[in-house]
Amino acid sequence: MPFESLAQRADRRRFLKPFTGEAPWPPPMWLMRQAGRYLPEYRQTRAKAGGFLDLCYSPALAAEVTLQPIRRYGFDASILFSDILVVPDALGQEVRFVEGEGPRLDPIEDIVGLSRLNANRTGEKFSIVAETVTRLRQDLPDETALIGFCGAPWTVATYMVGGRGSPDQAAARLLAYREPQIFKPLIDLLVDVSVEYLTLQVEAGADALQIFDSWAGSLPEDQFARWVTAPTRVMVERLRKRYPEIPILGFPRGADQLSAAFVEETGVDGVSCNTAMPVMGMVELAEKTDRVVQGNLDPLLLVAGGQQMDERVVEILDAMKGRKYIFNLGHGILQTTPPENVARLVEVVRRDG
Ligand code: CP3
Repeated sequence: MPFESLAQRADRRRFLKPFTGEAPWPPPMWLMRQAGRYLPEYRQTRAKAGGFLDLCYSPALAAEVTLQPIRRYGFDASILFSDILVVPDALGQEVRFVEGEGPRLDPIEDIVGLSRLNANRTGEKFSIVAETVTRLRQDLPDETALIGFCGAPWTVATYMVGGRGSPDQAAARLLAYREPQIFKPLIDLLVDVSVEYLTLQVEAGADALQIFDSWAGSLPEDQFARWVTAPTRVMVERLRKRYPEIPILGFPRGADQLSAAFVEETGVDGVSCNTAMPVMGMVELAEKTDRVVQGNLDPLLLVAGGQQMDERVVEILDAMKGRKYIFNLGHGILQTTPPENVARLVEVVRRDG
């Protein structure tokens, strides 16, 4: 079946409008990690699934938790429920989610670890995720866009090399300095399989894509150019060749002053801004790049709620009005977020927008 044009899709799904050059108001909104443990219904489904990865690999349950925040809040976009660490898992690296501790992987420290990864076996796991996307496109309201995603090669590599999350990503940064002959092929492999992964998601019905580079901010500019910008550019080029119109959002978290160059050099259609970016920085980014800007309410302010939250939201909206803008948080929603604060947020964005 031929793809609908972006303009046709945007007619029905307002999330896509900014990517056609419009500035709809109130702005489209969704929240990073909008499916998750702050919702009691998520915790219930998660308990049914068993492990976290079991949830990711159960199309019925993964589709169910994707739909939960849409039912509650009517966001303009849903995001496929999965995880960026599905990619290393699909490559054959052991990935475990330890309750209360976060992800644990068998770290890749040398050429032997690298050689154990097998790009030929990713299809098995990726096709399960594609099935979730297919189900979602059937079950979502027609007006709700569906965002597919993956982790950026750099951020995924920090977990693959470090074996866990870390505040400074030192293991990956050191390997990149000391043994680029191991690190570069790892990044190249991640570029290849991530493009295939996103391709499957688009084929199954994703309307837009987001590439999460959560740890982009830990690199000095030369390393940023090499491990963040360059791999993302290759991914965007390849996806663009296959799907000239599919909107691609980048999230180079912490890129700060490198953000505008990141947007120009990678060719992403939009950029998600993290919490520390000043509102004026978002305005400048929108003006300089003429791309879609997304962000950037502090997830902790959503936990706190109240008048302070309302005021900050209005401040952000006032600055972004008339621009190609999507309302979002500056990072993922926190587990301690009261669901009623999210309801209030939606009300304020849609009222004052
Ligand atoms: O609703 C959505 O946004 C879709 C699903 C989604 C998850 N993770 C579900 C998840 C998305 C888009 C991600 C992205 C992701 N995963 C990132 C990039 C974004 C970011 O937050 O920086 C990263 C770095 C990961 C890796 C990851 N996954 C970590 C570090 C953790 C543990 C942290 C924690 O809160 O425990 C996960 C687990 C995870 N991924 C959960 C969810 C809902 C919680 C797991 C659970 O239910 O026990």
